[in-house]
Amino acid sequence: MLHNLSDEEYADIDWDNLKFGLMTTDYMYMMKCTKEENFQQGQLSRYGNIELSPAAGVLNYGQGLFEGTKAYRKEDGRLLLFRPDQNAVRMKIGADRMCMPSPSVDQFVDAVKQTVLANKRWVPPAGKGSLYLRPLLIGSGPSLGLAPAPEYTFLVYASPVGNYFKEGLAPLRLYVDDEFNRASPGGTGGVKTISNYAPVLKALNRAKNRGFSDVLYLDSVNKRYVEEASACNVFIVKGNLISTPATNGTILAGVTRRSIIELACDIGYEVEERGISVEELMDADEVFCTGTAVVVAPVGSITYQDKRVDFRTGSEAVCQKLYSTLVGIQQGVIEDNKGWTV
Ligand code: COI
Repeated sequence: MLHNLSDEEYADIDWDNLKFGLMTTDYMYMMKCTKEENFQQGQLSRYGNIELSPAAGVLNYGQGLFEGTKAYRKEDGRLLLFRPDQNAVRMKIGADRMCMPSPSVDQFVDAVKQTVLANKRWVPPAGKGSLYLRPLLIGSGPSLGLAPAPEYTFLVYASPVGNYFKEGLAPLRLYVDDEFNRASPGGTGGVKTISNYAPVLKALNRAKNRGFSDVLYLDSVNKRYVEEASACNVFIVKGNLISTPATNGTILAGVTRRSIIELACDIGYEVEERGISVEELMDADEVFCTGTAVVVAPVGSITYQDKRVDFRTGSEAVCQKLYSTLVGIQQGVIEDNKGWTV
């Protein structure tokens, strides 16, 4: 019954003005297991609140991970997912770091597919946005002492979304914060734990109040190397060389980041994953950010210690070429000869 909706039967919302905000849909997917067993079988239910013990591991000790992936509608009405298996693999790696069982890659991808199909009237018309899927893995069982929770919940919910930044596709204004750190060696910056995000809110709010779009964080040891922004990875372009910080444990291994590295190599750029000093950042021809929510976003200016530098943007920018190629594949407009879309 869930799959019988016709493709023409869209939810009654303003598809021309989607933002990146929660718009609740009809169904979510949920699967539970105990710490002694693996996940077996989940199911769809109506979207709604979930019940948790006040002593749940996620509430008390932050034992939780999240993912983000998107479904697009093609012109012919078919629905496409972009590399959901990569999110599944990343969740498995994160679950190991956080002492949690995790769904198998097949279980994860199947849950995402079921959630999309059950909510297909919420997948925006072609070219108007995407259905953002938010898989969560949380320690849902109670534990007062510090220990892995006795029970886990894997959940997927969805929301139709438009551009992540309020600037839309206009160039971002970034601020390099040398006071707050996002991650530290040996910590969890390299996996998508829920606990990586609230700690950046203070720096992010402060920057937004000063008119910036997002914050760039520096490494916590030397305060010299660029790590990433609050919600996305960062790349620089200098001549024919595209560089991005190496995933050394403090950088999130973004699915979009990896895809852009591959596309840039295919197009003929030299690509390096390595440390990038803030001086090199400020001397770049171009800077751009990547992420599932953000996609590929041009950076117009960066301010560091009260010095502002402007960068190349617009139709001649490398970032524009990469954006068009990636989005073309994601939306089924450019042939996917990499087998990335499902
Ligand atoms: C994503 O890009 O999917 C993320 O998880 C970032 C989030 C802060 C919106």
